[in-house]
Amino acid sequence: MDRIPFSGIRKVFEKVNELEKEGKDIINLCIGRPDFDTPQHIKDQTKEALDNGLVHYTSNYGLEELRNALSKKLKKENNLDFEPSQIIATVGANDAVFLAMMATLNPGDEVIIPNPTWPHYESCAEMAGAVPVEVPLKEKNGFVLAAEDLEKVITGRTKLLVLNTPGNPTGGVYGESELAEMARVAQKHDLMVLSDEIYEYLTYDTAKHVSIAALPGMKERSIIVNGFSKAYSMTGWRLGYVAAPSDLISAMIRLHQYTVTCATAFVQAGGVSALTSSQECVSSMKSEFDKRRKMVVSRLQSIEGINCQNPRGAFYAFPNIKELGITSDEAAYHFINHGVAMVPGSTFGTYGEGFLRISYASSYKILEKAMNRIEDAVKAF
Ligand SMILES: Cc1ncc(COP(=O)(O)O)c(C=O)c1O
Repeated sequence: MDRIPFSGIRKVFEKVNELEKEGKDIINLCIGRPDFDTPQHIKDQTKEALDNGLVHYTSNYGLEELRNALSKKLKKENNLDFEPSQIIATVGANDAVFLAMMATLNPGDEVIIPNPTWPHYESCAEMAGAVPVEVPLKEKNGFVLAAEDLEKVITGRTKLLVLNTPGNPTGGVYGESELAEMARVAQKHDLMVLSDEIYEYLTYDTAKHVSIAALPGMKERSIIVNGFSKAYSMTGWRLGYVAAPSDLISAMIRLHQYTVTCATAFVQAGGVSALTSSQECVSSMKSEFDKRRKMVVSRLQSIEGINCQNPRGAFYAFPNIKELGITSDEAAYHFINHGVAMVPGSTFGTYGEGFLRISYASSYKILEKAMNRIEDAVKAF
């Protein structure tokens, strides 16, 4: 456990709490969750399930109705053929990542985690006794992994490659040809791929989500992780899923059985409602995110000393603050003192240094105010 750090975001929250106690007004742009309520029809169907007695253990795999709906969704939207028996309903995508790592990795196996990255992968790899290996996601490549960079870090012990598209914290989205390159390298070196697709519906401009598992020869070496948190604003419900080849599902279901047993029964009914009802709620949240994204990015781009690429997915901007000549930790503290909290890029690994993560999951008005404060803080710098 000594190798597993507390989340770096905690330090920022502590500073925010301290300043708020002193009466300062801080706009918190650290939070990685949609700011919308869960759509009403999902709540209604869940309440109904609860009232109708869906209060007991479900199968360890999850409700059949949910896994049937997931199997159909994977086919229709991702062009993937996973049987309901190859899907486990999990306690959020977090749980799915943990199961996937524990099931695939032996002590000493190496896991390639492109970086800057959501820190969860590294900690789960450590918990499995494996060795996380960093490889840079370069800003000039739109924060998409280059095959030549990937090949450089592959050794005889490499077992798993983690891909997260659309990506947290960068907003990078892999196109089909970029995924084909990843697939080529994975097949050449016999790697498994953990594909975290939790932001799949949040792509902008011409970006389009593609699952690597849909490429030729990849389904049998891919583990798909996904969930309801981001698409349906259901972070607190804790519902996700993992889809994988049967032998891995057989390992994961035993882990699942002896840790959480099953995802909460009536919450799974909410998942069925989310999947089988109109998807209008997803597109309206996405279009609101898109409006905010455009405003935030254009404001950031207009500030001297800050360079911000257009994020093509998720709900984060990842501005480069290297021209300010300070570390991302120092920058985060400077901006907090001017009333805006953002996550220092170093929280997301070595290659996150020199960047800040801004979550635009706050109202347009609040974001405008935050951008004014950032502008003033840079002038004051
Ligand atoms: C890339 C990524 N995957 C998974 C998750 C966790 O999702 P869940 O709420 O379903 O556990 C997050 C949450 O921030 C995330 O950013």
